[in-house]
Amino acid sequence: MNTELASNVNWVGYVDWPVRDFHGYQTKRGSSYNAYLVKGAGKTALIDTVKGPYAESLKRNVAALCPLTEVDYLVCNHAEPDHSGALPAMVAACPNATVVCNAKCKDALERHYATEGWRWQVVKEGETLDLGGRTLQFFDTVMCHWPESMVTYLQEEEILFSMDIFGQHYATSCRFDDEANMEEVMQEAKTYYANIVLPYARPVETAAKKLLGLKLRIVAPSHGVIWRAHFDRILSAYLDWRVSKPARKVIVLYSTMWQSTRRMAEAVAQGANETPAEVKLLDLSVVGDTEVITELMDCAAFAVGTPTLNQGLMPRVAACLTYARGLKPAGKTAFAFGSYGWASKGAEEAEGYLKAMGCTLLREPITCRFVPDEATLEACRAAGRALAGVAVQVP
Ligand code: FEO
Repeated sequence: MNTELASNVNWVGYVDWPVRDFHGYQTKRGSSYNAYLVKGAGKTALIDTVKGPYAESLKRNVAALCPLTEVDYLVCNHAEPDHSGALPAMVAACPNATVVCNAKCKDALERHYATEGWRWQVVKEGETLDLGGRTLQFFDTVMCHWPESMVTYLQEEEILFSMDIFGQHYATSCRFDDEANMEEVMQEAKTYYANIVLPYARPVETAAKKLLGLKLRIVAPSHGVIWRAHFDRILSAYLDWRVSKPARKVIVLYSTMWQSTRRMAEAVAQGANETPAEVKLLDLSVVGDTEVITELMDCAAFAVGTPTLNQGLMPRVAACLTYARGLKPAGKTAFAFGSYGWASKGAEEAEGYLKAMGCTLLREPITCRFVPDEATLEACRAAGRALAGVAVQVP
């Protein structure tokens, strides 16, 4: 496996092939935690670490390139444990190393780990660190993805270690974009954006504008492949995703108890299918939230169906809408529907989530008692046509 970004600049991270649940994010293609070793003429820096359980692998990768006693700096761009988890082990293994981070990160690390005895070098925006013929420069990227998030730029090689920005949860034996399957890379980059970056789209845009003023030959994120050939593709995609730029696509998602809400969902999809819009019908009993939010991010319109259960939503619908409400894809038109037995509550509660997400409501909820009759199904088809009518207007 080629791990060399430039002479004496190497990937030393960990590829997490089996991980399928990343704090609720369903990582169907695994992930990687990227750490990088940069050797200058006089000093050596490790940029970020890996998840705690994989500290031994990180130590081995570093030791293959230089004795651990010769590591001078442990740069921590981000305190989240997928990148800082192995930091305590590295501090212990590298007796001459100083931890380099910003003030907020130092505070966060002190709250996560037993840091007594650690040596620190707290850096500010734009500050540099001389490794001997090689210069690291640090830039704060607040809320990309935590308040202390920072990126590191290797000036002479024009390499940006971009932390979570431009990452993908994607396990591969290839370290570079031009070696990997780009269709899979871009799909996982999109899923990553929808599930991680979306609520921070504005700060990421601000940070990107600042960082694009740098000369960028290589952009090395903390997850997935390193961008050295196709950075233009991920940059262009980020511009679209930041506004949840809609496609001519309608999503119908639902959960059902005794098939009534399923029949309503199918009628909505049937109506939408009478137009040129792309239509996807997602049964929440088999489709996970990670996939749903990725579909919602670039749809123009969607409908959500739930029966009333115990005076509320079906649990899968509640979970999915809670997840989507937090990530808040922008600019969608939507409505709710569903069946009930003796008191209609579920669809109305779902509509409350749609309002909280800032959706434009197409219409009031469509509900029916127990089983939809033909009039109800026709109302669903008409609503599906109207929803798709919004989608096909997308330029
Ligand atoms: Fe990959 Fe915000 O950590």
